[in-house]
Amino acid sequence: MSQRVALVTGGTGGIGTAICRELATAGYLVIAGYNSGGNHDKAKAWQDEQREAGYEIDVAYGDVSDAESAKQCVDGVVGKYGTVHCLVNNAGITRDSTFRKMTLEQWDQVMNANLRSVFNMTRLVINGMLEEKWGRVVNISSVNGQKGQFGQANYAAAKAGMHGFTKSLAQEVAAKGVTVNTVSPGYIMTSMVAAIGDDILEKIASTIPVGRLGKPEEIAYTVSFLASERAAFITGSNVAINGGQHMF
Ligand code: CAA
Ligand code: NAP
Repeated sequence: MSQRVALVTGGTGGIGTAICRELATAGYLVIAGYNSGGNHDKAKAWQDEQREAGYEIDVAYGDVSDAESAKQCVDGVVGKYGTVHCLVNNAGITRDSTFRKMTLEQWDQVMNANLRSVFNMTRLVINGMLEEKWGRVVNISSVNGQKGQFGQANYAAAKAGMHGFTKSLAQEVAAKGVTVNTVSPGYIMTSMVAAIGDDILEKIASTIPVGRLGKPEEIAYTVSFLASERAAFITGSNVAINGGQHMF
């Protein structure tokens, strides 16, 4: 069998990097999607770093919140490698604000980068997976999409929306060997979490029973498992990885 292809949006970010490495280790040909405001040199530097660490990972530019840009990204990948067998919808942003201060722009930016992006990207790869009768879609949601969070009405709504998307699409494609699942990380030490004020982050960390923040690798192991042959019977599921911060 020829090497399967995985596209990871936000692949050069904190969790994305760990996911790309795990999927490469699992034998996938991996492409990391990036946006970085069009800073291609930054992506190339990331790629060099991965190579030095022993990982050969391609990069593909695109703004996943924009349908046309997403199409250019996927067209480029498909043109170069053929079918995308595994899509990890990992790109995301926060624009935290209490609801009464939240602007329409903050709402739209977060909905577009975290949820509309999932529509934009998945619809471009799903037919290829169905034709191959094999595919994996993994959507990166959040503990805050499950429990809500002070200051995150926009983000929690977008991340919660992923569950409805996952469970609906999973039903539509299950008979054709394609699984669709959601992973909900808790607080993981990346630049996204580093942006929270120290005092607030300390308070949040004190509510995590395991007693620490998570590591990107701890998310990546699960994504890699869901993307494997062995996870063929898991679909429409959510895996919560949050150190016990939210159990249900
Ligand atoms: N619960 C209840 N009340 C709270 C509160 C809380 N958690 N936090 C603040 N307040 C209160 C304050 O005491 C204050 O009360 P008074 O007005 O009576 O004095 C009031 O709310 C402050 O309201 P403001 O609108 O002025 O809030 P702010 O501008 O000071 O801060 C915020 C708002 C930026 C959202 C800040 O609370 C914050 O950063 N919160 C953290 C949000 C968070 O967890 N983000 C996660 C980012 S990482 C991520 O998203 C990854 C992932 O998936 C886990
Ligand atoms: P991060 O390091 O900031 O990574 C976010 C990635 O998303 C970046 O690589 C960024 O790409 C990409 N991105 C954002 N907007 C994009 C757009 N419009 N088009 C293309 N790419 C875009 O943060 P992270 O913690 O690794 O987050 C990864 C995912 O995990 C996010 O969906 C986040 O919501 C979720 N998550 C994180 C945590 C956590 O605690 N860290 C917890 C739960 C869920 P560029 O930098 O190239 O622009």
